[in-house]
Amino acid sequence: MKGILLAGGSGSRLYPLTQSISKQLLPVYDKPTIYYPLSTLMLAGIRDILIISTPRDVPLIEALLGNGERLGLRLSYAAQARPEGIPQAFLLGEKFIGDSPVCLVLGDNIFYGNELGEILKKGAQLKSGAQIFAYYVNDPENFGVVEIGADGKVLRLTEKPKEPASNWAVTGLYFYDSQVVRLTRTLQPSARGELEITDLNNLYLHGDQLSVRLFGRGFAWLDTGNHDSLLTSAQFVQTIEKRQGLKIACIEEIAFRQGFIDAEKMRELAAELSSTTYGAYLLRVVQETVRW
Ligand code: TTP
Repeated sequence: MKGILLAGGSGSRLYPLTQSISKQLLPVYDKPTIYYPLSTLMLAGIRDILIISTPRDVPLIEALLGNGERLGLRLSYAAQARPEGIPQAFLLGEKFIGDSPVCLVLGDNIFYGNELGEILKKGAQLKSGAQIFAYYVNDPENFGVVEIGADGKVLRLTEKPKEPASNWAVTGLYFYDSQVVRLTRTLQPSARGELEITDLNNLYLHGDQLSVRLFGRGFAWLDTGNHDSLLTSAQFVQTIEKRQGLKIACIEEIAFRQGFIDAEKMRELAAELSSTTYGAYLLRVVQETVRW
């Protein structure tokens, strides 16, 4: 399973914050936003990842994350000239995907909750069809909405419906089989001039190849798309981190716990940041884990 992290977009709802920088580089409390979706892919066990952003922001993201080697990852980059829709990721990533299944995560999405790693690892075993994830929200009219039958099967998907048939919003995390590039090619831009992820998911649905997994109410799915959600995401992360003394989406820690890097490498990463609280945290993780 390969991973695509889609971190472009215009971010216009966050102006003027995002007039000169990607929202994916803005902070969510103590780390850049992009760390959160990157950690989602890593928790799924995915190490080969294509990061897509705007021509302006690709160099900045690359300056932050590099080729991923220090985290035991293989990161590559592609630029999306204009934000012409989420499925465009599969056209830009065609060569990268090859004949592999692929997981797509949106760059402004934060997933947090018990057994997230298990759920993601199961998703990453997908060989055929597609899997989406739904979350019960208060304002479904702002999302792709999924209607689910009594048997747990997807009945219908609708993009930002005026009168939503359910409160289940489709989250920015998707697993697809290797048909995804071919199917994306058949999509036409919508009235707003974008390729729509809901249209792609509908192709899988009509082929009886779409499954949905529900994230329960003990789960957090947040995004950083507007000023309030950016602030409340930061407050959420701060609350949990302060209470536990454990970090959410610390990519070095995840690389270490997943076995992508060893204790020696982790000590090296900690030493690079030795005068910071972040570096002290990395050191603590490696010391405690070795002791356990
Ligand atoms: P959106 O929040 O829908 O769009 P946006 O980032 O352009 O923001 P705004 O509506 O405020 O102008 O995008 C969701 C995520 O997908 C976000 O991480 C950006 C990314 N994205 C792209 O990278 N390319 C695209 O063409 C689109 C539509 C989104």
